[in-house]
Parts: sequence; structure tokens; C-alpha cells
Amino acid sequence: MFIIFLGPPAVGKGTQASRLVAHLSAHHLSTGDMLRQVRREPSELGERLAELMDAGKLVSDEVVLDVVKSRMDVIGLDANYLFDGFPRTIAQAEALDAILSASDLAVNHVIELVVPDQVLVDRVKKRAALESRADDTPETVAKRVDIYREQTEPLVAFYGSRGIVSKVDGVGTVDEVFDRLISVLETGS
Ligand code: AP5
Ligand code: MG
Repeated sequence: MFIIFLGPPAVGKGTQASRLVAHLSAHHLSTGDMLRQVRREPSELGERLAELMDAGKLVSDEVVLDVVKSRMDVIGLDANYLFDGFPRTIAQAEALDAILSASDLAVNHVIELVVPDQVLVDRVKKRAALESRADDTPETVAKRVDIYREQTEPLVAFYGSRGIVSKVDGVGTVDEVFDRLISVLETGS
């Protein structure tokens, strides 16, 4: 089973994905976490990633696909996957389709998490106080939201034409949102 979490910065993808993977016995593939791990290692690539990520820009499809493919090679395709923050461009979605269709597989479900913009701002502020992520400044978050609208939101229509997208309200407590997600994944509503 291949599930994708779509949604703007700080909507709650990582929070919910961490809980869902336990419930679904799935692998959590967060490209943000994977790229943050690469940038921690001293290398030219790490420096390039730091520059892009701290400016709120997307990392190149090539680098992201390299990281995702090598992880999928290790896990194998006979597993449940929850993609968090990937794909983020049409090119990444097409590359994922190619990987899966080569084994007669396909993306099963896309969850679009939605909250009003003010909730994003409030959640980023809260996280900035707790975690100090370098890309959580108000300017960088605004840039990340713009890039989400331009480059990632078109994926809702891309997958929507296959009838596999569910829109889920991300407002409420973590438990409330989790219950909504379980209901959508298990009963389709
Ligand atoms: P990434 O790490 O994926 O960041 P993001 O998509 O911008 O999303 P966030 O991780 O900021 O938010 P989230 O939705 O996971 O929310 P969270 O659960 O933390 O990407 C970072 C960067 O890496 C990108 O900008 C780009 O440079 C690069 N990158 C990554 N993937 C890429 C790709 N595929 N292609 C190219 N570049 C890529 O929640 C946020 C806060 O709210 C937390 O403090 C949490 O505790 C709190 N919270 C969550 N739910 C609730 C709730 N229900 N009520 C109250 N508080 C809540
Ligand atoms: Mg996250």
C-alpha cells in the first residue's frame, strides 16, 4: 500500500504520519527528514542542501529521487509506505509512478491535509519556539507556502483524476485529526 500525504508546511503531515505508520505497519518516508540527515554530514551536497532548504526552496528532483529510490531499494516494494512531503512536483510524481508501475503497482491513496493559513502561521510559531528549525522564520515559511501552492498543489488534480484523493480537515487536536485520517483510510469517508 502506497499512501501520500500532501499539505503545506506545518499542516501536521509529520505529526500524523508518525502515528499512522505505527497503526498501519508502514514505513514513514519523510523527504524533509531524509534531506536534513544528508545535510548534517559534511559534504558539498550537504552544503548545497542547507542553502536551498534554509531559503525555503525545493531541492532538485534529481537529488530527492536519488534519496527516495535508495531508501525504497532497501525496504523493497512489498511493504506499506507513507510518503510525507514527497512527491512535491509533477516530475517527482511521474518518477514515483514509473518506479511503481514497473512492478505493476500504483499509488493507492492520497490524503490532502488542509487548514486555514492562520493555523499554519500559529503552528510554525509554536514549532520555532520548540525546535529551532532554520527554515521556520516567517519569511521562509511564506516562501515555502508559495512554493507549495505553485509546485505541489497541482498534484491534487494530478491524482484527483484517478479518484484517489481524500481531503481531510487538519484543524483540531492531534487525536481528532488522527481519527479522521483513520476513518478515511479504513472506511473511505
Ligand atoms: P519538510 O520537512 O517536508 O517540510 P514541510 O513540508 O514544509 O512541512 P513541515 O515539516 O514544516 O510540516 P508538517 O506538515 O510535517 O507539520 P508538523 O507535523 O511538523 O521539507 C523541508 C524542506 O526540505 C523543503 O522546504 C525543501 O527544501 C526540502 N524538501 C523536502 N522534501 C522535498 C521534495 N520532495 N522535493 C524537493 N525538496 C524537498 O506540525 C507542525 C507543528 O504543528 C509542530 O510543532 C506540531 O507539533 C504542531 N501540530 C501538528 N498537528 C497539530 C494539531 N492538530 N494541533 C496543534 N498543533 C499541531
Ligand atoms: Mg514535516
